Order: sequence, then C-alpha cells, then structure tokens
Amino acid sequence: MPTMTSLPLSVGIGLRAPHVAQVRGARPPCGWLEVHSENYFVDGGPALAALDAIRAYYPISLHGVGMSLGSAAALDAGHLARLKRLAARIEPAAVSEHLCWSRIDGRHLNDLLPLPFTAEALALVCEHVEQVQDALARPLLVENVSAYLRFANDAMAEWEFVAAVARRTGCKLLFDVNNVYVNAVNHGFDPLDYLAAIPAEAVAEIHLAGFDARGACLIDTHGARVAPPVWDLYRATIERFGPRPTLIEWDTDIPALEVLLDEAAHARQIMEARHAVAA
Ligand SMILES: [Fe+2]
Repeated sequence: MPTMTSLPLSVGIGLRAPHVAQVRGARPPCGWLEVHSENYFVDGGPALAALDAIRAYYPISLHGVGMSLGSAAALDAGHLARLKRLAARIEPAAVSEHLCWSRIDGRHLNDLLPLPFTAEALALVCEHVEQVQDALARPLLVENVSAYLRFANDAMAEWEFVAAVARRTGCKLLFDVNNVYVNAVNHGFDPLDYLAAIPAEAVAEIHLAGFDARGACLIDTHGARVAPPVWDLYRATIERFGPRPTLIEWDTDIPALEVLLDEAAHARQIMEARHAVAA
C-alpha cells in the first residue's frame, strides 16, 4: 500500500455545484479540487460527466461524508462498493472520510456525529478504517470533526484518539484546522496541545473553513471566510507539520468562485512564507 497521497503541495478549493460550469469552462488557476464522493454515486448524468471532464485538468480529492466509520454496526457494503467504483473511475489523488458516525439501524443521519473517546470506540473505528483501506488498496485520510458535546465516559483527549487511529491503522490524517479551533473554544482546551500530539508524518492534508460565532458557541458552518484566529492556527500547524496540501471548504451561503480563490491565495501566501523560512 502506498504511504502518501499524490495531492500536490499547493492549495485547492472544494468544488461545489454552483461553480462547476465556471471551473470547467474557465479553468481558473487552482492547485487541486475536492468533491463530496456521495454526490457522484451515480451511473451517469451531467454531474459525473462534468467531473470526468474536470479531472483532466485538476488533481481530484474524493471527500466522503457518509461512510460512518464510527457506527457500531458493520460498514455499509453497498456504500463502500460505490466509493470503490468511483475511485476506480476518477483515480483521485486522495480519498478521505470523517472520524464520526452517521448511521444507526440502517438509517442515515445527515450529520457528522461525534464519537466517545474510549478504547472500545477506538478499536471499532480502527477496524472500519482498515476495512476501507483494504477495499480501496490505498491509505484513507481521516478527518477530525467539530463536536458540540463530549461524553462522560471519555477516556482520553480528542487528540490522543485521533493520533491513535493514525498509528494503529497507518491511515493518513486530514487535519481540519477550523474544526480544532471550534472544538478548542467550545470545549476549553489549548489547540497547541492538539498540534503537539499529532504525528506530523501522518498529516497528508489540511482543511480551512469559516465558522459562525453569533450564538452561545462556535458553529462549524463552512459558510464564511476563514477567521483570523484560524489563520493564526494554520500558521502554527504548518510550522509544526511542515507545509501540507491545503483546502478551502465552503458549503453554505456559497459565494462567487473568486472569493474561494482569494481565500486559497491567502493560504498559499502563508504556505510559501513558511517555505521561504525553511529554505
Ligand atoms: Fe473539513
């Protein structure tokens, strides 16, 4: 099994439906694109045709939201088979999923729900990560999620759980800086403790996104520009891990494509400044 992904060391954007025609037609300068895998679990049609066309010009990352790696039940074999078929067709530079659960008793919940940080949950999720990696014959990138509750029986910190998943399974990490910041504020920990615990060699991709701060806690909406403290944490992240392929995510109140490209340019400046310091 290869040890790294083939994502370029540059900044990409999440490709969402309102921008597909513009990206396909104008081919704006952008390091790579990430799409939600489940949107392409189809046998044909215009969306898949557009992705077939776009993949000729950009490296593609397949980012899943529905595998439910943390469900107590077995993985959904049909879901895994559809992902495998899509990966064979698109030949993505990376395949990623979330460290969460979203399915119970055959029902799919449209949310990325948090796991208890226990030895039992760790063993279960590692078994599922290994099954996905075996099926795809490639490392899976596993992403830390935002959570709005913690479990009374947590036996370890979130960062210990995430690091253990990578060490046990050999999977890669998709390190979402915004999710770390949101959880740090909402649950009261130092995000630098999180950074310190993660094995640098496992981090294969970074996510950046915006949150909503209007309520009693931060909500990970992916509906705004990256917030200043998250840019600061991004600088600390690449200082700790080194530059990594980085993605701007935006999923609600989607703005003009130029806004995403502007955010990507800002991330690229930070990454290149770190490169210049390291050189
Ligand atoms: Fe993310």
